[in-house]
Amino acid sequence: MMLEKIKEIQEEVEKFSVDTKEQLENFRLSFLSRNGKVSALFDDFKQVAGDQKRAVGQELNKLKKLAEERFSTWQSSLENTTQDQKSRLDLSLPVVPFTLGSRHPITLVRERIIQIFERMGFSVSEGPEIEDDWHNFSALNFPPDHPAREMQDTFFIEKNPDITLRTHTSSVQVRVMETTKPPIRTLSPGRVFRNEAISARAHCVFHQVEGMYIDKNVSFADLKNTLYHFVKEMFGKDTKIRFRPSFFPFTEPSAEIDISCIICKGKGCRICKQSGWVEIGGAGMMHPNVLENSKIDSSVYSGFAFGMGLERMSMLKYQINDLRLFTENDVRFLRQFTAAE
Ligand code: DAH
Repeated sequence: MMLEKIKEIQEEVEKFSVDTKEQLENFRLSFLSRNGKVSALFDDFKQVAGDQKRAVGQELNKLKKLAEERFSTWQSSLENTTQDQKSRLDLSLPVVPFTLGSRHPITLVRERIIQIFERMGFSVSEGPEIEDDWHNFSALNFPPDHPAREMQDTFFIEKNPDITLRTHTSSVQVRVMETTKPPIRTLSPGRVFRNEAISARAHCVFHQVEGMYIDKNVSFADLKNTLYHFVKEMFGKDTKIRFRPSFFPFTEPSAEIDISCIICKGKGCRICKQSGWVEIGGAGMMHPNVLENSKIDSSVYSGFAFGMGLERMSMLKYQINDLRLFTENDVRFLRQFTAAE
């Protein structure tokens, strides 16, 4: 009797179809609610004779499970369709705006420099930012009492033996020479550190790119021609270049590299302090001691090297007047840069 009733209601549940929220609610009221048919069966169950309780109970539980499963399947599919319909509904809505980031001006300038030198056969090499004394100073022919070795100029991590934050990317020169046989043509961009108070014109963290070319018969004329080509590619074909005699422990002879001011085209302005020229870096012929320190025979090979500041070039290229802007992460500044050309 009771089993028949269960079967009857099971068939009803199986026949029921639900397409709307209202139908789902009807289903719930008819079968699953406190006054629904399944609940009523549970009330009747109390009257079932003891020896049948087990068999009836099993069927009853199956029915309850069936009804509950159907209910939750319909419920979730109805929820999904309403969401789908919602998003399908208004195809005329404007798309959610998606802001693309832009590359940092230092990155843009670095990539442009690499591009120019790669075409002249230069590779890119990198080295560690934490450097030992040998690679940052000694191998580069710095005498033991050179002022750059003072605490006021250099960040030391450890003393005796000295470990520093590299003060220039020239340290990478040494690492490349130690591991590569000439001919060598390489470019080493990277971050460098100096113990300086932060202002519009100085920072304790900045970027350089070091370049080096070692082969037989490399001369100062090759250095001039290479940089001459670079400057025209980087800043435009009317840009002029000049070399001023200077001193670096690792090059002999040494020079400062100036370019004609790209803001005033050499006429004289605030940026070039009315001189018409701005400095972009240093250069020179590799000192024989530096070659020998890295086990390169200076009687066979010669080479040139140069080092330039990425911030300086970026400031000139984009007319940026404060070094702090590079590190402040102000999006109003950053989003102005899209390409280096
Ligand atoms: N290392 C120098 C500096 O940080 C820059 C430099 C000058 C690098 C002359 C060179 C060079 O390779 O030949 O000021």
